Amino acid sequence: MMQEFYGNCIGILRKILEKHKPKKVFLVTGKKSFETSGAKAIEELEFEFVRFSEFDVNPKVEDVKRGVEVFEKEECDLVVAVGGGSALDIAKVINLFAANEVRGDGCIEAIKENKEMEKGSTFVAIPTTSGTGSEATKFAVVYIDKTKYSVAHENIIPDYAIMDVDLTMSLPQHQTACTGMDAFCQAVESYWAVNSTDESKKYARKAIEIILKNLERAVNNPNRDNREAMMKAANLAGKAINISRTTACHAISYPITTYFNVPHGHAVALTLGKMLVYNNGAGDEDCVDVRGADFVREAIKEIVDIFGAKDIEEGVRVINELMKNIGLTIKLSDVGVKDVEVIVENGFNPDRMGNNPRRLTAENLRNLLKEIL
Ligand SMILES: [Fe+2]
Repeated sequence: MMQEFYGNCIGILRKILEKHKPKKVFLVTGKKSFETSGAKAIEELEFEFVRFSEFDVNPKVEDVKRGVEVFEKEECDLVVAVGGGSALDIAKVINLFAANEVRGDGCIEAIKENKEMEKGSTFVAIPTTSGTGSEATKFAVVYIDKTKYSVAHENIIPDYAIMDVDLTMSLPQHQTACTGMDAFCQAVESYWAVNSTDESKKYARKAIEIILKNLERAVNNPNRDNREAMMKAANLAGKAINISRTTACHAISYPITTYFNVPHGHAVALTLGKMLVYNNGAGDEDCVDVRGADFVREAIKEIVDIFGAKDIEEGVRVINELMKNIGLTIKLSDVGVKDVEVIVENGFNPDRMGNNPRRLTAENLRNLLKEIL
């Protein structure tokens, strides 16, 4: 069972480590953010740490292999992951593979097959961005070549999550905007997802409400209160997708990120407005959700209501305005996309597309992308 704490990460982490008495802590961190966020003080705790920060912003299987090697060689027995989604995700996978003797090229197969495995060592997640909600999920994203894979195991949900708002105070403006939009899209997608439940919708609704009230200010006029609100919202959005998973916007975003270098949250947000309209058009012939097309349209109506908009068009405006106000462009051409074909070809992940409430074909997707080119 995961335990969550809000407050000073040093004091809380000390208590956790004193309880578990690790011989050596595998400390996974971002490169710069570890220092700028103030998290570096963790290393002053009286425990032995082995720091690992040699991984890409979009973690690759090669990074996982290296991490497992270090974990093994140093005989670590507890993991603390501090950072954004990349640090938390790669730490989850390294911990899982280390415990199951997945080594070297075996990592590629293990990621692709996503087989059941034994739980790894005790895992403490300390987010320094308010976006992915990875501290609350059973998912970890890893890239093999340019293709994105999702490692998903119930037992990689962190044992502990520590939310310390002070670690997010120095998050740069653009990163605050992108990670905040990731949380926002995760919540909206979760709300219309085929796998949504009453529980996931409750989390998603709360996340959307908090983000609409706080994201613009957290970006343009940050203070402790709006930063704390965003941290909470990202965690709620994480809890929502942990149940429902994400949908088309996320699936489409991965090639936009890998081929055009667009930060994850921005890449996802680019298609959110279009998918709101598209999903609202679900009919009996193309509805994927067994609860039916009326149910899907009702969910979309509820989203539009949560936005405080009177209809779909105004709902789309809310999304576009939010993006503009936090400095994110809304057209694909603005982020360097000239031709949508590479996105169409690489954006289809059957799992994620199957979770979108309205069936999306390559042809639909192509047209939709051309409208936002
Ligand atoms: Fe995301």
